[in-house]
Amino acid sequence: MNQPSFFVFPRWANRFTKIALVCVLLLPVYVVALLYYGANARTLNVGYQPVQPVAYSHALHAGTLGISCLYCHSDVARAAFAAIPPTQTCMNCHQMIAPQSRSLQLVRDSYGTGNPKLAGLPIAWKKVNMLPDYVYFNHAAHVHAGISCLVCHGHVNEMTQVYQARPLNMAWCLSCHRHPEPYLRPRNEVTNLNWTPKNKPRLAQDLGLTVATLPKNLGKYLMGRYHIANAKILTDCETCHR
Ligand code: HEC
Ligand code: HEC
Ligand code: HEC
Ligand code: HEC
Ligand code: HEC
Repeated sequence: MNQPSFFVFPRWANRFTKIALVCVLLLPVYVVALLYYGANARTLNVGYQPVQPVAYSHALHAGTLGISCLYCHSDVARAAFAAIPPTQTCMNCHQMIAPQSRSLQLVRDSYGTGNPKLAGLPIAWKKVNMLPDYVYFNHAAHVHAGISCLVCHGHVNEMTQVYQARPLNMAWCLSCHRHPEPYLRPRNEVTNLNWTPKNKPRLAQDLGLTVATLPKNLGKYLMGRYHIANAKILTDCETCHR
């Protein structure tokens, strides 16, 4: 008597051996791709916080010491890129302040007063916020429109180590471009991350008005005063993809 047929693998099952083999061969490719895209800053999102070569703290410098963002990121108001300050900017203070500190060793190396092999080489700061190359972005346009660093970077003045605070994806950009009014503030308060519209005398001063003549709707008023483009232009594909 023949064996019952369910003990015998049907002939098509042989194909699985080949498929399994192909899978095993492709596994390394898959793992490499996963690591590449997973570790690529562009695809990492909110909370991305690379460890920086120097333990520089915004909470100390921009928070406690109250150094203006513009002292180090002076290009934000002028250029598309905000730029990380050169070592010279750090040494303006650190030639005198904590000159022997071990945590400033790489700063001195870069400046030329440490390891001579590293003299003149910039500090290898890791980029935190990053858009894909096919997206056009411009800091100056936003700073001039009265959009604070706070809206896009969070409370940097309280961060010991900077992290990405917002998603920076297309939906996020568009949600503001459709309706920017609530995010607008006087231009000269853009780098003041603790600004509040509730301080009426200061607001009046910022705008060159009196408390009595302050507009009821600040956002609407600034849309006109800063000549902000309408939502049709701001949501046009050409604005961000050129
Ligand atoms: C004393 C100089 C200094 C001051 C003042 C300063 N920064 Fe920075 N900033 C740096 C340095 C250096 C880096 C790069 C290292 C790092 O990410 O911590 C940086 C990085 C950043 C980044 C991340 C850049 C990236 O790679 O995406 C943001 C955002 C930022 N700063 C915003 C601010 C804001 C907002 C203020 C004002 C509240 C400010 N900074 C004040 C020196 C400064
Ligand atoms: C306007 C002056 C000023 C500038 C500019 C400045 N710092 Fe500082 N920094 C200070 C002061 C003040 C301290 C606190 C020193 C202390 O606690 O003894 C400090 C502390 C530090 C410390 C901690 C030192 C330690 O021993 O604990 C590091 C690291 C540091 N700064 C890095 C930087 C870097 C990097 C830059 C440039 C991007 C920079 N600083 C620019 C004033 C400045
Ligand atoms: C409308 C959102 C927005 C505002 C407002 C904004 N930033 Fe940025 N910032 C970004 C984005 C997006 C990037 C990443 C840009 C890229 O990769 O091309 C970035 C990058 C940076 C960088 C890294 C260098 C660079 O240019 O790529 C620094 C430093 C920085 N911002 C500082 C600031 C400071 C300081 C302010 C306030 C004066 C500010 N930003 C206001 C969105 C913003
Ligand atoms: C909180 C509000 C807000 C966010 C978030 C925002 N923007 Fe804008 N953006 C504006 C405003 C307001 C203007 C208009 C400036 C004007 O008309 O003067 C603008 C203008 C622009 C322009 C035109 C600049 C020029 O040179 O004409 C570009 C490009 C742009 N934004 C890209 C982006 C991208 C990309 C993102 C997301 C990563 C983004 N924006 C996020 C408010 C915002
Ligand atoms: C305010 C700026 C802005 C405008 C306007 C805009 N985009 Fe984008 N777009 C972005 C950003 C930022 C990204 C990057 C998304 C990311 O990294 O997640 C993006 C990504 C994309 C991608 C890549 C797909 C993806 O999700 O990664 C496509 C396709 C695209 N945009 C098409 C368009 C089209 C079509 C329009 C017009 C209807 C448009 N965009 C208008 C900012 C904008």
